[in-house]
Amino acid sequence: MRGCRVGLVGAGGVAQRHARVLAGFDDVELVGVTDVAPEAASALVAQHGGRACADVAELLAAGPDAVYVCVPPFAHGPAEEAVIDAGVPMFVEKPVAVDLVTAERIADLIARRGLRTAVGHHWRYLSVLDQARELLGDRPVRMVSGSWLDKVPPVAWWSRRDRSGGPVVEQAAHVLDLMRALVGEVTEVTAYGNGTPPPVDGADIDSVTTATLRFAGGAVGTLSAACVLGWKHRAGLEILADRLALSISEDGLLIRDADGERHVPADPEAARVAVDRAFIDAVRGVGDDVRVPYAEALGTQRLALAVADSARTGETVRLTTPVGPTVLATGVTVDA
Ligand SMILES: NC(=O)c1ccc[n+]([C@@H]2O[C@H](COP(=O)([O-])OP(=O)(O)OC[C@H]3O[C@@H](n4cnc5c(N)ncnc54)[C@H](O)[C@@H]3O)[C@@H](O)[C@H]2O)c1
Repeated sequence: MRGCRVGLVGAGGVAQRHARVLAGFDDVELVGVTDVAPEAASALVAQHGGRACADVAELLAAGPDAVYVCVPPFAHGPAEEAVIDAGVPMFVEKPVAVDLVTAERIADLIARRGLRTAVGHHWRYLSVLDQARELLGDRPVRMVSGSWLDKVPPVAWWSRRDRSGGPVVEQAAHVLDLMRALVGEVTEVTAYGNGTPPPVDGADIDSVTTATLRFAGGAVGTLSAACVLGWKHRAGLEILADRLALSISEDGLLIRDADGERHVPADPEAARVAVDRAFIDAVRGVGDDVRVPYAEALGTQRLALAVADSARTGETVRLTTPVGPTVLATGVTVDA
């Protein structure tokens, strides 16, 4: 296959990152960018090439081999449908939607079309993950604590529940996705939000949320998400197994076991590059290392929404494992 011609839907922060990473690949050409804010698309093509397109239809008419959908959570749906309809491989930024109905509809369309997809859960490409798995070996995970303790990001839609889904869906989804990868599926969630939004105009999200999780494999865990700080304090996982403690973040792996304590650094940027490299290689037919296709991200979306639902309703949420992405049932039940 010749070089991969890529189109972008959305030209904001994360699209700029993908454009920069893709510009570093000598087998990728940016053919077009579309954004509901045309000036954002123009600025991106001025920097990285391609054409500013009026809409997704014009972008698809340029004949891309792959399209990245980099819109905020509330805006997912129409772009994906158009890309699937055109049969073009698609990379979707997380979270894949603000709700489950949209995500399940898109997953179903993808499955019917047999389309190649990837989702931006780049933590699955952290270089220390294999080492964490090796150290765990066949020791069962007993406990996991995940956290994302941060500020409110500087994008207007973030602090509105109907726009972002809230901090758990929008941000801590990376942590939940890594928990699924290392500890397995969650079967039950009970969560609490503090009911107090962060001090940002129009905010209606909880500024702190905490959840308890029960895993199918017997582990128990917690998730804490906060946006009350003025800085990013911590984002990552602590995993406890018999005589082993692992602490994993984008910066590396801290190991404590019978041999003492040691730190293995990881380069966060390397994982961000690897997620794009794996998708492009898969589209070009020269690689097969997409770790989170859309159907897999749907599992993380279900879990994140279960935490958010439980925090909102005060009820325990039980998750059932769906039989596949074509199943349109929510896979979520709320205790009466
Ligand atoms: N994987 C990661 O590490 C990572 C990092 C940052 C952001 N993200 C995710 O990427 C998504 C976007 O975040 P961002 O920081 O780029 O936001 P942003 O607000 O900076 O950019 C979003 C862009 O999308 C455009 N847009 C909105 N609706 C659109 C539509 N219907 N069609 C085309 N364009 C549309 C906006 O005009 C804006 O330019 C979020 O879901 C966020 O969680 C992921």
